[in-house]
Amino acid sequence: MALVDIEQLLKQHMGLHSSTVGSGTVLHAVEQRMRECRIGDIDDYHQVLLHSDTELDALVDTVVIPETWFYRDIKPFEMLDTWLREEWLPRHSNRVLRLLSVPCSSGEEAYTLAMCLADAGIGPQRARIDAIDISSTNIDKALTGAYGRNSFRGQHLGYRDRHFQADGARYRINDDIRQYVHFEQANMLDANFGRDREPYHVIFCRNLLIYFDRATQDRAIDRLQDLLDSDGLLFLGHSETGLMLNRDFSALPGQRCFGFRRGKPEQAGHEDGSPRQPEPRHHPPRRRLSNETTNIPRPFSDVVKSVPETPCEPLPKPENDRLGEAFRLADEGHLDEAAALCEAIIEEHRDQAEAYFLLGLVRESAGNLDEAERLLRKAVYLEPAHHQALVHLGVVCEQRGDSANASRFRERARRAAARIPDGAVP
Ligand SMILES: C[S@@+](CC[C@H](N)C(=O)[O-])C[C@H]1O[C@@H](n2cnc3c(N)ncnc32)[C@H](O)[C@@H]1O
Repeated sequence: MALVDIEQLLKQHMGLHSSTVGSGTVLHAVEQRMRECRIGDIDDYHQVLLHSDTELDALVDTVVIPETWFYRDIKPFEMLDTWLREEWLPRHSNRVLRLLSVPCSSGEEAYTLAMCLADAGIGPQRARIDAIDISSTNIDKALTGAYGRNSFRGQHLGYRDRHFQADGARYRINDDIRQYVHFEQANMLDANFGRDREPYHVIFCRNLLIYFDRATQDRAIDRLQDLLDSDGLLFLGHSETGLMLNRDFSALPGQRCFGFRRGKPEQAGHEDGSPRQPEPRHHPPRRRLSNETTNIPRPFSDVVKSVPETPCEPLPKPENDRLGEAFRLADEGHLDEAAALCEAIIEEHRDQAEAYFLLGLVRESAGNLDEAERLLRKAVYLEPAHHQALVHLGVVCEQRGDSANASRFRERARRAAARIPDGAVP
């Protein structure tokens, strides 16, 4: 029973929902800490945790997933760069820009923000980045500012030449970039988190909410919303954007930047009174969407942008329009209507992978993981190389603590993206 109690304690303290990482991960961390504390009985260890904040912090440090790297998912940083140049700089010559990176892990995200500012010509005296993480080990690592190869991924590493110095096998971030960032160890679910903080113009909160249950996710987003300036931008991780659907936010233009601005599109206007980009009045069906050049954000349609073309029996025209309409409704947050339309299409065309797929996404965003898995599996049954259905199956299985199937689906998604047939050697 003690393991369940420890999982409950971690959930209350830091939001970690053990099914998102699997009980095995929590048990592994607990066993490691017990060994280090020389405690043989898990009930005794539970008692220690209840009375020692130091040991609770040590367990948190052991259980957290610190995975991060510079310019992770490049698009959010490209969007930030555009916003800095086109919106912030022309309107604010003297104001100090405030950014928050929470969780910052070992600092790569926060230093990436600093590099974006430097590259846009905003000096450290005109910007401040607060970078926060619950893990003191991560914060200590961030403060060293020295990184190994694993923190630099992808092929475009020009920023490393500009902003780092080689130091043996590692790279050390330059002092002018360090100056922007203020690291702090804190728990974003702590009641005092955010107290006495000035609003932020930009918040990055990526790849944390995915480890929370739905109620904690909502609480965390409420907190971020309170911390965000009335015209501020919020960036989430790619699996977390569905949480924003019924919120008073509008998605930023630009595919896969996973960014939002406060206010619905019709309410949101610039400080100078000029209106924002209007919502699209019409969305064509999915197959045409993937070739579109418009940059209007569509949280559901955009998901399918990276789907490699797979053979699929085309729907007759009116049905194709209905599927496009379902994606449009989902993009605009009318999830019940989108789901009803998908169900109607499925009722008449039981072989339509795309309708099962969209319905699965809607159920996933509502937290109905059982139903999401059933529908996504159906989509993959009909279209075995449906890349995004495989990706989402991986996410859903991971959230349910089914790590074995999660990695199987991720591998299938990788093969689908690379067009490697199942069973063939990559
Ligand atoms: C996967 S990293 C994400 C880092 C970075 N945002 C990114 O996307 O690359 C998740 C981080 O969340 C931190 N974390 C977990 N629970 C937290 C909490 N309640 N408050 C603050 N940080 C937390 C962990 O210590 C870990 O470093």
